[in-house]
Amino acid sequence: MPTITYHQADGQTQVIELEKPARIMQAALRNDVPGIVGECGGQAMCATCHVYVHEDYVDALPEIGEDEEEMLEVTAAERDARRSRLGCQIEVGTPGLECIEVDVPDEQV
Ligand code: FES
Repeated sequence: MPTITYHQADGQTQVIELEKPARIMQAALRNDVPGIVGECGGQAMCATCHVYVHEDYVDALPEIGEDEEEMLEVTAAERDARRSRLGCQIEVGTPGLECIEVDVPDEQV
């Protein structure tokens, strides 16, 4: 089954199993994963769903869109040039991206 694994800065990990494809931000909110806010509801307008994607999955990600690029410039936690993405822009459980692991930043606002 597709999964999203969320790693917290304090070492805690949550593995969420997906019944159907879901975005990293939405799956986090639905399952009470701490540290992901999703203030704008997934419109790429707030950057409070920032995550650091684990290196193994970076090459499988969709390209960064214009809106996402702008928001990644204003993340609360420092942007990582290669691993930072908006959780609302990445759908998991799809062909090519069955699973993913992300680190949740220690601040979002
Ligand atoms: S939820 Fe606002 S940018 Fe992702």
